[in-house]
Amino acid sequence: MLAQGEAAGRWLGRIAMLVLLLAGGAAAAAGSHDRALHQGVATCAGSTCHGRQEATGPRVRQNEVMTWSDPASLTGVHSRAWKVLLEPRAQGIGKRLGLANVSTNPECINCHGDPAPVRGPKWQQSDGVGCEACHGGSANWLASHASVKANHADNLARGMWAMDNPAVRAGVCLDCHFGSDKPGQFVFHRIMAAGHPRVAFELDLFTSLQSHHDEDADYRARKTVAGGVKTWAVGQAMAVERALGLLPAATIGLAGPDYYFYDCRSCHRTFSDDPATPLVARSNAWRPIPPGQPVWNDEQMIMLVAAARVAAPDLARSLESQSRAFHAALGGDRAGALKAAAALKATAGSLAKRFAAARFDRAQGFALIEAVLVGNAPAYTDYQGGAQAVMAADTLLNALVAAGQVDRAAALALRPDLDRAYALARDANRWDAPAFRAALGQIASRARALK
Ligand code: HEC
Ligand code: HEC
Ligand code: HEC
Ligand code: HEC
Repeated sequence: MLAQGEAAGRWLGRIAMLVLLLAGGAAAAAGSHDRALHQGVATCAGSTCHGRQEATGPRVRQNEVMTWSDPASLTGVHSRAWKVLLEPRAQGIGKRLGLANVSTNPECINCHGDPAPVRGPKWQQSDGVGCEACHGGSANWLASHASVKANHADNLARGMWAMDNPAVRAGVCLDCHFGSDKPGQFVFHRIMAAGHPRVAFELDLFTSLQSHHDEDADYRARKTVAGGVKTWAVGQAMAVERALGLLPAATIGLAGPDYYFYDCRSCHRTFSDDPATPLVARSNAWRPIPPGQPVWNDEQMIMLVAAARVAAPDLARSLESQSRAFHAALGGDRAGALKAAAALKATAGSLAKRFAAARFDRAQGFALIEAVLVGNAPAYTDYQGGAQAVMAADTLLNALVAAGQVDRAAALALRPDLDRAYALARDANRWDAPAFRAALGQIASRARALK
């Protein structure tokens, strides 16, 4: 009895700590939000500024507001991010969680809107994820950045965020597209169980889906073009680092890490007592864990191993052994799991820096495709890793084309194969690992022919 009471006490204690660290209104964490004044999309939308109807600007397109708010395209998704909270799906989530109003609740609006703590008179919640949620509060650069003498370095010095830098960009996107320790930026499993969609992300692909800029000669003269391969690699490393960094805070008592961190399918699978349809654990040498242990969502860890093997071979071995040790440690005590997480997080951090400083050439681009599609094949036992692999194949091929390293028409011939792999990764309930591996193998062999 005593032991049980003690356990319940610890449980409650941890939940309290969790609320303090991650839920809305935590004063200590709020400081990490952008302190600069956010003035709202309306201040960007002037007809001589970013509010033109066509891309006519001599430098930037100047129709960014139109692209950002396009109702018919994914480029407009951020302008709709708050409005979706008024729709039945979001309202249903709120009802199940007992939240009075999701469209004003910090647990939702800090990702479904610009989480700026300091707001000007034209700032509007209904703008959703506005310009300053990604480019930083404009208080100190709004006037100067539009002047003839403006340049990128000056803008950055005044507080604009360096979104052309993949590490900076990854940090900004991951806050909402994975989670952060800032108030209201974490999709706890209870939010998922109430109806929130699974959050998937890949930095380079998602950048292109919402893009409103051209990386033309003028852009290159003003800014750094990292290229898709580097952006992909940095994004993978930082996603791994981010998840592991949040683990200590989002660990709930005896239940361990919040279920959000795990591969959803490791728990949400069909099950039968009928001996005629035996269901047994899948074995996967990349994560040596006993049958029945929930699986840490390793979709980005798998990609990171491929990236390290190609671009940082000296770190690849420790990455692989640390990630295996981490999976295993999650079945043990809290201290051991956190220690293993810290070691793996440090390596992911080193890899992010290495990739950011690296120059990925054509040969490495092809080597990465091979590593992801073929070298990693044994790791694709589960849906989420597979979904990340298709995005990687798409992104890496596009990167080679964008860098002029592969002929566009030749690459287009791979589209049907990519589409087949996407189709096989569409429905988690119909996940078929062997068919999926075969589809990846097909892409790989065609990609080899492009060399
Ligand atoms: C950590 C950031 C984060 C938090 C917190 C969050 N969301 Fe989301 N939400 C997202 C992202 C990112 C997506 C898009 C997921 C995707 O497609 O990959 C999304 C998608 C959705 C969708 C589907 C939208 C559509 O277009 O179909 C709904 C509904 C939703 N969220 C409601 C909520 C509600 C209600 C809350 C609060 C209880 C909430 N969200 C909290 C980030 C967040
Ligand atoms: C979801 C994040 C996000 C939002 C929201 C966003 N941007 Fe961007 N923006 C980016 C990224 C990423 C780039 C490309 C990297 C870069 O050049 O900074 C970019 C680039 C730009 C550029 C640079 C083009 C160039 O040639 O240098 C302009 C101008 C711009 N955005 C304006 C806006 C405006 C205006 C809004 C609001 C209507 C907005 N952005 C909203 C992420 C965002
Ligand atoms: C302040 C939070 C926030 C930030 C920062 C943010 N996003 Fe989003 N993003 C969202 C939300 C919320 C949604 C879902 C909106 C919806 O479905 O209506 C979303 C949706 C998207 C989608 C559409 C995804 C889908 O499956 O439909 C893309 C692509 C995307 N974001 C890219 C990016 C990129 C790239 C960055 C960084 C440059 C970024 N976002 C930064 C909150 C954010
Ligand atoms: C460690 C096991 C575990 C993991 C991992 C897990 N869940 Fe759950 N999930 C549960 C349990 C337990 C319930 C509650 C079932 C009930 O209420 O009957 C649940 C409930 C749900 C529900 C409500 C519907 C239902 O089936 O009961 C949804 C939706 C859901 N989870 C989504 C997710 C998503 C998305 C992920 C991955 C981000 C995920 N879960 C990861 C254990 C898990």
